[in-house]
Amino acid sequence: MDDPNSRENPLNPALEDLVDHARQAALHSYSPYSGFRVGAALRLTSGEVVTGTNVENISYGLTLCAERAALVRAVAEFGPAIRIAAAAIANLNSAASPPCGACRQMLAEFADPEAPVVFPAANGLRVMAFRDLLPLAFNRKME
Ligand code: THU
Repeated sequence: MDDPNSRENPLNPALEDLVDHARQAALHSYSPYSGFRVGAALRLTSGEVVTGTNVENISYGLTLCAERAALVRAVAEFGPAIRIAAAAIANLNSAASPPCGACRQMLAEFADPEAPVVFPAANGLRVMAFRDLLPLAFNRKME
């Protein structure tokens, strides 16, 4: 990808495949309260693809986003040394859904700064490098 912050149409085949995984994951969404069905797919640097979906709760506040569901699943399945090479987010509601701030901060722990993140935006799918999605993530390093 030449410009990591572009709207790509069509997406390159690897990202298109990741979006397909995210859409599939959204079919399993547990979202009886919002009706907003989200799926996320992470491609690890090892090549593995791990998906997640949003899981809501009657308390509302305990709801888990699709992105964090995918992330904790990736760590559980492949261990704490995983690195995220690319991420895709999809929803089945024909709406925009960039990853929320909490998910960005969680992903920051494992995502390569240049990892492309594709998500539905106002004018269709948008691709951004992770570093541009969350500049200045919380970090205790004095550098
Ligand atoms: N949601 C996600 O899965 N990812 C986000 O980044 C933001 C929102 C879910 C949470 C909730 O189940 C529904 O979308 C509506 O907010």
